[in-house]
Amino acid sequence: MEKRKKKTIYDFQEMKKDGKKITYLTCYTYPFAQFCEEAGLNMLLVGDSLRMCVYGYPNTIKRIYTKIDPMNLQLVHTEAVTRGAPSAFVIGDMPFGSYQESTEKAIHNARRFFEEAGVDAIKLEGGTLILDKVKGIVDSGMAIMGHIGLTPQTSNINRKSKVHGKTAELAKSLIVDALALEEAGAFSILLEAIPPEVGLVITKLCKIPILGIGAGPYTDGQLLIIDDVIGMFKAFPIKFVKKYVDFGKEAVQAFEHYVIDVQTKRFPEEKHCYGMKEKEAIELVKELEGLPSSIPYERKEEAAKELKKKIISNMPLDKRLKDKVKKG
Ligand code: KIV
Repeated sequence: MEKRKKKTIYDFQEMKKDGKKITYLTCYTYPFAQFCEEAGLNMLLVGDSLRMCVYGYPNTIKRIYTKIDPMNLQLVHTEAVTRGAPSAFVIGDMPFGSYQESTEKAIHNARRFFEEAGVDAIKLEGGTLILDKVKGIVDSGMAIMGHIGLTPQTSNINRKSKVHGKTAELAKSLIVDALALEEAGAFSILLEAIPPEVGLVITKLCKIPILGIGAGPYTDGQLLIIDDVIGMFKAFPIKFVKKYVDFGKEAVQAFEHYVIDVQTKRFPEEKHCYGMKEKEAIELVKELEGLPSSIPYERKEEAAKELKKKIISNMPLDKRLKDKVKKG
């Protein structure tokens, strides 16, 4: 595979100027990072949607099924993705509780994404309410993508409907948030679940690249959740999703075929087996006789009989015939 050059923040600014769309997917694991690398994605977000898509949590906040610290969980997956997709611009997603408390904590945890997982930028949710954290992280030399509109970590408290910014007044407050994030130094902003009209206005007003997920066609690039794109997320339907392949359905079909093959002894075939030289197999028959007397004689005899059968069935036909003639 030809090695591509990783795009920089400067390249994304140029793409915005030239009207070239930025391609962006979430990704959580090494194998899928390799597929994304091969497909040439510009950006990958190791979103905290990881908790829903990979671990089956009901949302991105609750820590009920595991004692694993959410930061460590994000870092482990993010590091796998940066290794699997060396030419994608990888963005680490700061999990709930890793930045809200204080600017110091936000800077500390942001730095862990760069140092321990090798990201190119981090993303955190929120607008004007988290500006001090954004400024602190940017001033510490780290690149930030903002995230406004539907922000899953706080959707239980700020959600009036699934779609955000539906009235002119609410749209204006999103615009204020976007401009404030740009002013605070975010290199880009992600808009989630807003009308295309609002996506259009924010994209035009901001100089930095604006990405969208469910924010219409006018943003500088598009993000989708990888599991939605390949038909692996089944918990609930989402309007803005486009499914390109039903991998979930194909996987179920493959597993069903495997079950049938095993049950009907069609798997494994000879080509799936490691060979043993005929001479060694014959030797093994003899070895069986010498096994400890604690193993019942019938079991040894049964094993030897089956092994002999296998040796004979492995022999080329002419050798089998010769042996038969020899035995008379
Ligand atoms: O975690 C994530 O995947 C996200 C998207 C929903 C934008 O933040």
